[in-house]
Parts: sequence; C-alpha cells; structure tokens
Amino acid sequence: MTKRALISGIGGQDSSYLAELLLDKGYTVYGFARRTAHYNLQNVQHLLSNERFHILYGDVTDMSSIINAIETAEPDEFYNLAAMSFVGQSWNQPIQTTNSVAVGNLNCLEALRITRKTDCRFYFAGSSEQFGKVRAIPQTEETSFYPRSPYGVAKVYGFEITRNFRESYNMFASSGILYNHESERRAPEFVTRKITLGVARIALGINDKIVLGNLDAKRDWTHAEDMVRGMWLILQHQEPDDFILASGTVHSVKDFLSHAFKVVGIDDWAPYVEQDQKHMRPAEVDFLLGDASKAQKLLNWKPEISFETMVQRMVESDIAALKAGRADNVTRL
Ligand code: GDD
Repeated sequence: MTKRALISGIGGQDSSYLAELLLDKGYTVYGFARRTAHYNLQNVQHLLSNERFHILYGDVTDMSSIINAIETAEPDEFYNLAAMSFVGQSWNQPIQTTNSVAVGNLNCLEALRITRKTDCRFYFAGSSEQFGKVRAIPQTEETSFYPRSPYGVAKVYGFEITRNFRESYNMFASSGILYNHESERRAPEFVTRKITLGVARIALGINDKIVLGNLDAKRDWTHAEDMVRGMWLILQHQEPDDFILASGTVHSVKDFLSHAFKVVGIDDWAPYVEQDQKHMRPAEVDFLLGDASKAQKLLNWKPEISFETMVQRMVESDIAALKAGRADNVTRL
C-alpha cells in the first residue's frame, strides 16, 4: 500500500524538496499550507498537477485545521516544517514566532494524540540555533542548549515537547537538529540567497553593491536536497530518536561572499559589499559546527553536494532567473 505523508509549511524551501523526494518514492503527499494574501506556493507549483499531491489549507496555530488535515490525509508520516524561520525577524515578532514554532509543534502532536493517530511517525524540524552560544565544538546530540534568539528559544521548546510526547505516549516522534541549509529555492531574506542574488545583479549590471550585517559569523552550510533525504531517513529508522544533520565544515559569511563572487569571475569582492547596522542582530550566534556522526552511523546519511557546488548552483540559478525576467520581486532587500 502506498504511504501517505502530511507536510506542514508546504510553501517553504525544505517542504518542496521533501515533497519531490516522497512523490518519487511513491507516497501520496498532502501539503498543509497557510492561506496568505499573496500566492505562496511557487516552490511546489510544478507538483500541483501530480495526482498524488494535494494541498490542504490551515495553520499550525489553528488546532482544528490540523485535526481536519490529519483526518483527511490519514498520514503514516507527518513532517512539521511550518515555522517563522527567519531568526532576525524573531526579535520583531517574538510572540508570533513562539506561536508558530513552539505552540504550533505542540498543536501538531496534540492533534495526533486527540485523533488517536499515535501510530503516525512525526518529525520536528529542530535547529542548530538551539545551541546558540555554543557549549562545545563541534556540537553533538549531547551538547546542552543556549539559544540566543526568540526563534532559538522556541525551537528548544519544540524539540523538548517532541521528546516528551515520545516518552509519555510512546509515539514515534523524532527531531532532526538541522544546521543551515540553502538552495536555489531559499527565500531572499537569508544571507546566502541575499548574496547570490546580489552577485547575480552585479554581474548583470543591475546593481553595484550588496548591503549586509555581520560578515564574521560562521555557519555549517549544507544543500537542502541533502537535508530532506536525512529527514526522511530519520522517520525510516527502527526507533524514534534525535539526530544532528550537518556537513561538519564551517565557513564564514566572508567565505560565502568570496566563493559567490568567484563564480562570476570577481576576485576582489570588497568594493561591492557594504555593512549596515540595521542588519546586525541584538544577539548573534557567532559559530556553529555540527557533528553528524550519529546520523552517518545509524542512518547512513551524509551530504553529497559540496559547499562550492551549492554556491555555484545558487549564483547560476539567480543569473538565469534574472535573465529570464524572474526574481524581480526581491529588489528591496
Ligand atoms: N539574514 C541575514 N541578512 N543575515 C546576515 C546578513 C544579512 O544581511 N548579514 C550577515 N548575516 C549573518 C547573520 O547575522 C547570521 O549570523 C548569518 O549571516 C546567517 O544568517 P541567516 O542566513 O539569516 O541564517 P541563520 O543562521 O540566522 O538561521 C538559519 O539557519 C538556522 C539553522 O542554523 C535559518 O534557516 C533558521 O531557520 C535555521 O533554523
């Protein structure tokens, strides 16, 4: 019998790649989408004609809409990828962030319990932002949390409540603790896509600079396609558990700039980059580096797309989109 999956936050980068992966594996996929005034399903537009792909409207902050979605989808696997995912914005909207990330995840778990679908395998999208001011380098599943933003705090709640449902109700509820992951479908407010779009504009003579915040922050970046394969493997494991998914390599924002500019033949990028206080955060996470050896050992997971290939794909995709007259909605960033 074909498996059925429910994916919340279906408009996002990760859910679009995950939906593709599951459809390729023969699943029937239900995407749970928030209705907004502006159309937000561009990332899954190409899947809408697939007869095994369905959209259900609702919101993880609205429990009745989740219950309806569960009763319609009857999922074997539920991936909760819905969240206000922009760390910088979480200081401006701390309550909405907490509602979508923390309470939203509790709602999903409660909805499974209330509908007696406790045999459905559940995935929570945990984040390396839970580590914040890091207590160990590299971080493992045993490293303690010290979040540094309303977003990070809410993710810690989401992670802990997932573990508590697993232990209280014997549910197959697992979390991935994912480090930064990027792609051609990344939203333009995140630093990587902001850079690749900026570089593409500079290469095409549309703009002459990119305005950024802290260039010294260091992150462990992986391509989103590799990450969604890891999410799926986490739910195929014989037991529910928590796993770090990361590349195990670290690059600064400056390194990212340098690689992105190299793709268009610019070696000295400094004249094209300005820093502005408005892009600095009230509290910064300076350094994140994950140790994914547990996932490698138990799930046989490791990233296949290198940092350099990822940057190159993103820059080339943005150049092609701009040439084709797409990607124009992001000029204001
Ligand atoms: N967004 C942004 N814009 N970030 C900037 C800028 C800028 O103009 N200039 C410098 N940065 C720095 C940020 O201060 C941060 O240290 C780093 O670039 C990365 O920022 P983001 O790309 O916004 O990602 P993030 O690390 O805060 O969070 C992402 O990764 C998490 C996993 O670690 C998001 O995808 C989260 O949702 C995810 O949980």
